[in-house]
Amino acid sequence: MLKKCLFPVAGYGTRFLPATKAMPKEMLPLVNKPLVQYGVEEAIEAGLTEIGFVTGRGKRAIEDHFDTNFELEHQIAGTGKERYLDSVRKVIDSASFSYTRQGEMRGLGDAILQGQRLIGDEPFGVVLADDLCLNDELGVLGQMVQLFNQFRCSIVAVEEVPQDQIHKFGVIAGNEIKPGLFQVTDMVEKPAAEDAPSNMAIIGRYILTPDIFELIRETPPGKNGEVQITDALLTQAQRGCVLAYKFKGRRFDCGSVDGFIEATNHVYKTIYLPGGKG
Ligand code: UTP
Repeated sequence: MLKKCLFPVAGYGTRFLPATKAMPKEMLPLVNKPLVQYGVEEAIEAGLTEIGFVTGRGKRAIEDHFDTNFELEHQIAGTGKERYLDSVRKVIDSASFSYTRQGEMRGLGDAILQGQRLIGDEPFGVVLADDLCLNDELGVLGQMVQLFNQFRCSIVAVEEVPQDQIHKFGVIAGNEIKPGLFQVTDMVEKPAAEDAPSNMAIIGRYILTPDIFELIRETPPGKNGEVQITDALLTQAQRGCVLAYKFKGRRFDCGSVDGFIEATNHVYKTIYLPGGKG
């Protein structure tokens, strides 16, 4: 049974400086709700209620967000303003939260390895909160949990991206075993467009089996001197099985300013305005 989900949030968020100088980028709000809360809500919906964060310096606001603020609660108790806290109270009541630190920014692979302390020896989800994924029906992580229960191996979410964007992603090649589901045969991190094995890019949702930790340990630093999860996943694919899933729904790259603005407009029109509370 999958019940744990890891959120690597140690990155500096340099593309949003100076906003992210003293504030985690995961706390940037889409209208009235921080990015990271959308990700945690998606995990909870998927049944992953043990949430682990791999944090770094300057990320304390994330811990405070998923904790009770007694002063504030006391201040607004019994007033009409209480409803503004409904969504985060629901999250706090539905999940548990634990934290560990990535001492040095050595890449996403290393961040996930640091999370072993929180995960132990069981399969787990990974969410990169700066990828906002929305779907009218079951969320992307929920779709992946269903697949994991059927196939019992690591799964990465992929989407088709245009040629001129491909160098920003990990890219897969694979055999389609059923519509939208591929058995991975190759994976390359941030390839030049001409070297990319396909146009299918890995986005920030993974389900990983725990043997990945040993494979990350074996993985030398790759692109940009960072320990890449893509490299460890390729070894896993070669020795066993990794699936790539073309998810249903829409992804916004909230790690970039353009994607963040697009997501903000979308959330304002489709989520905030209809309900008013986010
Ligand atoms: P990004 O490549 O988006 O880096 O990391 P970043 O630092 O967050 O943002 P920019 O590029 O400086 O603007 C992808 C994800 O992996 C996490 C980040 O927190 C982000 O969620 N990450 C990356 C870590 O936790 N540790 C690392 O060493 C690297």
